[in-house]
Amino acid sequence: MTRPIIGWEQGLPVPNGHRFNRYLTCEDGRLHIDGLDLTQLFDEDRSHQGFDRTLPSPLEIIYLPIIRRQIDFMRQLFADVIAEVEYGGDFHYAYASKANAAEEIIRTTLGAGANHEMSSTVDVEIARIMKGRGLLPDDRMVICNGFKSAGMAYADNIVRFRDEHPTLIPVVEDMLELPPLIASGKQFEVGLRQKSYGPHADEAEMNLYNSRFGLAVEDMWKAADYVAAAPNLTLKLYHAMVGSQLVDQEDFVGRLKPAMEIYARLKQRHSSLSIFNFGGGMPVAMTLDFDFDYHAFVRLLLTTMQEVCGRYSVPVPDIMGEFGRYTTSEHGAHLFRIVSVKENNSHLPWYIIDGSIMSSFPDSWALGEHFIVLPLNHLDMPFHQVQLGGLTCDSDDQYPPKKSESPLYLPVETRDLYIGFFSIGAYQEMLGGVKGSKHCVLPEAYELIIDKDEGGRFQFEVLPGQTAANVLQNLGYQTKNIES
Ligand SMILES: Cc1ncc(COP(=O)(O)O)c(C=O)c1O
Repeated sequence: MTRPIIGWEQGLPVPNGHRFNRYLTCEDGRLHIDGLDLTQLFDEDRSHQGFDRTLPSPLEIIYLPIIRRQIDFMRQLFADVIAEVEYGGDFHYAYASKANAAEEIIRTTLGAGANHEMSSTVDVEIARIMKGRGLLPDDRMVICNGFKSAGMAYADNIVRFRDEHPTLIPVVEDMLELPPLIASGKQFEVGLRQKSYGPHADEAEMNLYNSRFGLAVEDMWKAADYVAAAPNLTLKLYHAMVGSQLVDQEDFVGRLKPAMEIYARLKQRHSSLSIFNFGGGMPVAMTLDFDFDYHAFVRLLLTTMQEVCGRYSVPVPDIMGEFGRYTTSEHGAHLFRIVSVKENNSHLPWYIIDGSIMSSFPDSWALGEHFIVLPLNHLDMPFHQVQLGGLTCDSDDQYPPKKSESPLYLPVETRDLYIGFFSIGAYQEMLGGVKGSKHCVLPEAYELIIDKDEGGRFQFEVLPGQTAANVLQNLGYQTKNIES
């Protein structure tokens, strides 16, 4: 069983200048994210990095420069490898909005030049808002995944949005999605989604697989013929998503290979097809032991595509990826204060945080997912092994997850101790819900959006957390006399 490294794994203090990963470092006993001292957010004793107030804990951090860095890195990597292996197609980066649909995220991904992937009718409204603000230019591809059969609000909204945005590409994952597109009479470039989630040796195995996503191979051929016969539709994109957080590059490309074969055969018959979209799956560092060779992956992907297309004598396609977790995981952190320490005959001391682990990071509780946890201060003091407990009364509200074998070490000194969960920016907030009423009616934290201006100086925007009145109103209470 793997044992992810989720923090500092020893009793000795963290040496000054220690780098935990690309963006987290220890300076004078305090944790810095990209050079920004995090303890100052709670502390009068601040490092004068442009932040001029004290915020309450818990606090959610949204650090936008990491999102741009992720997008720029991947686009540059593909450009480099395309040149290196003389690949005859382009690369298109799309952001999968389901990972985190917050306004500041979508504005940042579009601002960085990403195409946009969506999955529901409300997503269309988000794209419409961005269009209205001039952030979604006409040439930016908008990929419409998700279920959208005739009669669904999403299907109607896509047809309407086509009048506002020319490069709107519905990806058909069920035969029932074709009639509304054909009946609209509007010109659409469309995609077809292959049923291919998981590792499959070949087409026959793919067909037998039980998945509600995408078309079986036979339906794929039929759908392609319907599209070709419809005067207003053009087949543009082939979509095959094979998994999420795929950390082995050979396995990742191996899963895609049967789909590449089908792409090449479809291309022989439908020459308008020009994009191979591998969907999500690109991994990202959620713990400190992450080791994925992005360059080797891209090289293997492109050379395998060259080999397959060469065998079928068709030109190589443009490559698209829909990057959800990869784009947004690392930009998000959630900071808490340790409010109490309890022994209670437990084999490890309980450090109780001022919020909930299970409702802030549902994947840690539901799937046993690991995230990075580090102290924000007292890093220059001795550490010992502990367990974290949330404020709710739920026995599952703990970290590391119950079945985990990863030890968590935190400073022995707990006076004014703050800790952070890192790499939690993808899916956790969307799964836990935003501004609802949560377990044990704990209010939602303040948010701090951090960006950098052109001179590299930090910029801050504070979004207030929920008040008691907000939480109670959600639950149907009259709150006239409740202040906070
Ligand atoms: C169709 C589609 N594309 C992209 C993604 C994003 O995947 P990931 O977060 O692995 O990048 C998902 C995730 O569920 C998806 O369903």
